[in-house]
Amino acid sequence: MNGIVLIGFMGAGKTTIGQLLAEETGLPQIDFDDLITEEIGMSIQDYFSIHGEPAFREIETRILAETLTKSAIISTGGGIVLKEENRGLLKEMPRVVYLKTDPAELITRLQGDAENIRPLVLSKTPAEILAVYQPRIPFYEESATLVVETTNKAPQEIVAEIITKVGE
Ligand code: S3P
Repeated sequence: MNGIVLIGFMGAGKTTIGQLLAEETGLPQIDFDDLITEEIGMSIQDYFSIHGEPAFREIETRILAETLTKSAIISTGGGIVLKEENRGLLKEMPRVVYLKTDPAELITRLQGDAENIRPLVLSKTPAEILAVYQPRIPFYEESATLVVETTNKAPQEIVAEIITKVGE
């Protein structure tokens, strides 16, 4: 099987599903947040405060162009669809899976995730998080070749669904 790119909002499960898909398919996993953190040598939160979001987005685009050539399970960052250039790159890929999650569940997951500090969510109210999510929904949808609902589903169930559907 060739590579699969996972897209979706923060908290949609891109990293977890990516790990399981990698185990299941035997392909390597590439996780954007890990790659970027390694490259910038600091946390994403610190990078946002020091250099700003536009500088972060430039790094993200470069890493996207580099990684899309690889046969791997690629877990992108939630903001990858913001730039038109990135959406164009994604549209050239045969398997881009949008992990679609109910906003209420996303908010619960994000608020319970103390390990992963996300600057665009930190200290935000649910309404503010929704205001970040909603304008992105059409971008996720237009960039995906497959939309998979993840709300109330176990990770193994989601992985099985992706494998069946991308193999079709
Ligand atoms: C972001 C998502 C994060 C990370 C950064 C910005 C976003 O990745 O790239 O905090 O704009 O949605 P995850 O989706 O892996 O949390």
